[in-house]
Amino acid sequence: MSTQPNTEKSIRAKFLPYALPFIGEEEINEVVDSLRSGWVTTGPKVKRFEADFGNYVGAKHSIAVSSCTAGLHVSLSALGIGCGDEVIVPTLTFCSTANVVVHLGARPVLVDVGEDFNVSPEAIEAAVTSRTKAVIPVHYGGQACDLGAVYEIAVRRRLAVVEDAAHAVGCTYHGSKIGSDALQEDLAPGIRRVTVFSFYATKNMTTGEGGMITTGDEPLAERIRLLTLHGMTRDAWKRYTHAGSWYYQVLEPGYKDNMTDLQASLGIHQLRRLDGFIETRQRYASLFNQAFTHVPELEIPIEYSDRNHAYHLYVIRLRLDRLTVDRAQFVEELKECNVGASVHFIPVHLHPFYEKNFGYKQGDLPVAEEIYSRIVSLPLYPRMTETDIHNVIEAVCQIVAKKAKKSGRVLPHSSYSHLR
Ligand SMILES: Cc1ncc(COP(=O)(O)O)c(C=O)c1O
Repeated sequence: MSTQPNTEKSIRAKFLPYALPFIGEEEINEVVDSLRSGWVTTGPKVKRFEADFGNYVGAKHSIAVSSCTAGLHVSLSALGIGCGDEVIVPTLTFCSTANVVVHLGARPVLVDVGEDFNVSPEAIEAAVTSRTKAVIPVHYGGQACDLGAVYEIAVRRRLAVVEDAAHAVGCTYHGSKIGSDALQEDLAPGIRRVTVFSFYATKNMTTGEGGMITTGDEPLAERIRLLTLHGMTRDAWKRYTHAGSWYYQVLEPGYKDNMTDLQASLGIHQLRRLDGFIETRQRYASLFNQAFTHVPELEIPIEYSDRNHAYHLYVIRLRLDRLTVDRAQFVEELKECNVGASVHFIPVHLHPFYEKNFGYKQGDLPVAEEIYSRIVSLPLYPRMTETDIHNVIEAVCQIVAKKAKKSGRVLPHSSYSHLR
């Protein structure tokens, strides 16, 4: 990690990491309280966090898990997905969305995305076969996918839906929260559906590692709960309390996916801060938008009026035809300015495992590939100050000014025009 920028005009003395969590005193005190209580694994705080989260999104059942990956895996398993089945997954996602399908012996059928970076409903329709059992739409970057179109296909083709909401805690679609039972009633009558969230360190709220599954489907929730803790009979976590009993039965060979009270201690307080976190992210995103909207070398994120954007990611697209650098060089230039950046995501079908085992190759999913070639995720998180945000804007504008094919143009944003 570079600490000494070598640009003529130093924008920052200290490296700005791509992401950092905001952990307050309340979280720290709650973790200490759990440590002192002796409940360091699944216990009363997990129950409290599950109840709070269910109230927040408006879901009857919330099941806390050790990660979103574990939640996706156990949900597919509870839906009976296994050998010979196909599950449709957008290629522009983190590898775990597809890996969990492979873990169950099923085939991930990778499909292209649309201009919104989310799964293309037409691509889902074209990929459905008699073996297709489920689809995993991803809400990329903190803006919901076109759920209406996805569920229309799922209902008609009788597919289960596991929403990958790793980025989407606090997001809404048509005014209802992602993961809420209201969306089930509106969009998914009669089909089996769960939503899985991530509380990984970089997410809009964090428990270090962790995740949550929500659903309104009681039998499915019961089965997921059973499978998250070895397939042991209900409330196995209570067996060391006065109310519990040493006796349990294993009804299925389940997994070890439970969340701990230490994680839930963080989650209880992070959830209370979540709306404030999202407001800050949205405010910072609008500063970015104002600064970049008239820069012809850049494209800013598209916001859709029927869903909010919780800005888990702020992703710009470079107009490579107007620049003398490619995306990788642009990220390196940002690093030279002491600004961390990232790329979300390398399309799954381009990873060697998926090429070798499922026969995918470059050119198969062109929209995602084109997006991938020119995206940069800029740092955006509530722990950043407005000065940090302006440093990022300056760094981006300085690089664009230096690397634009057409020089001598004055940047429209007056406060950065001195950078040309
Ligand atoms: C789209 C997506 N799905 C799933 C995951 C997995 O989440 P976790 O790290 O909580 O397992 C991530 C993590 O970054 C993600 O970005």
